Amino acid sequence: MRLPAFDFTNALQERVGADGLAETDFVSGAGAAAVEAFRARVTSNEIGFPNLPNDRGAARAITEFADDLRPKIDDVLVLGIGGSALGACALDAALRGPHPLQVAARGRKQAKPRLLTLDNVDPGWVSGALAQLNPRRTALCVIAKSGNTAETLSTFMIAWEWLRRALGKNARTRVIAITDPEKGDLRALARDERLPLFFVPPNVGGRFSVFCPVGLVPAALAGLDINRILAGAWAANTTCWKTKPEQNPALAAALVHHALATRKGKTIEVVFAYSQYLWSAAFWYRQLWAESLGKRVDRNGHVVETGQTPVAALGVTDQHSQLQLYTEGPPDKMITFWAVQKPRAEITIPRVFTQYDSCGYLAGKKLGSLFDAERRATESALTHAGRPNCRWTLPQVDEATIGAFFQMLEFQTAFAGELWGVNAFDQPGVELGKKMTYGLMGRKGFEEFKKV
Ligand code: PA5
Repeated sequence: MRLPAFDFTNALQERVGADGLAETDFVSGAGAAAVEAFRARVTSNEIGFPNLPNDRGAARAITEFADDLRPKIDDVLVLGIGGSALGACALDAALRGPHPLQVAARGRKQAKPRLLTLDNVDPGWVSGALAQLNPRRTALCVIAKSGNTAETLSTFMIAWEWLRRALGKNARTRVIAITDPEKGDLRALARDERLPLFFVPPNVGGRFSVFCPVGLVPAALAGLDINRILAGAWAANTTCWKTKPEQNPALAAALVHHALATRKGKTIEVVFAYSQYLWSAAFWYRQLWAESLGKRVDRNGHVVETGQTPVAALGVTDQHSQLQLYTEGPPDKMITFWAVQKPRAEITIPRVFTQYDSCGYLAGKKLGSLFDAERRATESALTHAGRPNCRWTLPQVDEATIGAFFQMLEFQTAFAGELWGVNAFDQPGVELGKKMTYGLMGRKGFEEFKKV
């Protein structure tokens, strides 16, 4: 298969001048050292995400379970937040299209079940969403690695009662719990209620969990072909472990991001997704990059306050919303384009209104060629303005390519953590917020956090 490719020509000094990178901005051997350091963490079993796509047993169990349940439901309600929600949502939107106009997954006749995520506790939204669903035809996927998260457990308690009122004792056959195999209240609750249970491997963190049951169970229930997704992700590993950046796009991307942030003051990364199908993926990546690299201390305990703020932008839409700022505003940004070579479908612009200048030149052209020209024009405009930009190019948006792309972005993030010298796999800032919420809401054992 053809893997996504990374191009950073427009981030070089000869293209964008002083804000671009020169050979001397890359520390010799830093890339290979990052790969080896990360490899040691995977070999010792500390970090597990790289090998998830090879767990065929898990994929088989999930597929069988989903095939059995799918005919009985119209909707899958994901109750989870952050890494426990964004991956499934991104896979679904990439492969069936954005809501509400989704198409059927490959090999399926209808775009059902729908996949909906309640990843907020805004009461109006939660009650509005439940009011529109039929509890007799809905499955709940409650997902929390910690098994404790307030947002997830509160919406689960509400949805459980909603389901139980309609289905009585049978409610438990429509609830799937996904959590840590050894600890947490969700695990205990699932055991007590005899709910179907899937586990998050202990060495896989939330935002790196899209290729374990966290992402795969909802995806399979929605009818996506998780075997093709995993095959693509596994294929990416062949390049992701190479130590030469010219052979390893994920490593090249990590080096370029790190150099632009630390040498050129590009503290913000704008991800400009030129695909409506990749819009949710940009939000999945936003969490991956932000939570993994935004750290107060490095791995030696020194205060470093690292990170690069990811911003999601949609091409072409945001050309008419954000581009002015990116081109002429503060020079604190790098822009990463996500381009897709082959659109899902093509449309020819009809030969109508050709007597008008603003229509005549468009008549008879492919809409995809306009989409592509808009991206190339935006890249050129930014380059011309001295704004470093780079590009991931996907041959198309299909199961295997999406699997590979997500895996490469996870590797990029892991390598970036090594380059920055921080632990990309913890999130103490998020945990503190969780504890303060417990304190404010009166959870036993968290009284000391009740001070806002
Ligand atoms: O990436 C992470 O680890 C976090 O974003 C978590 O996914 C998020 O806080 C939800 O945690 P949990 O799965 O324990 O509910």
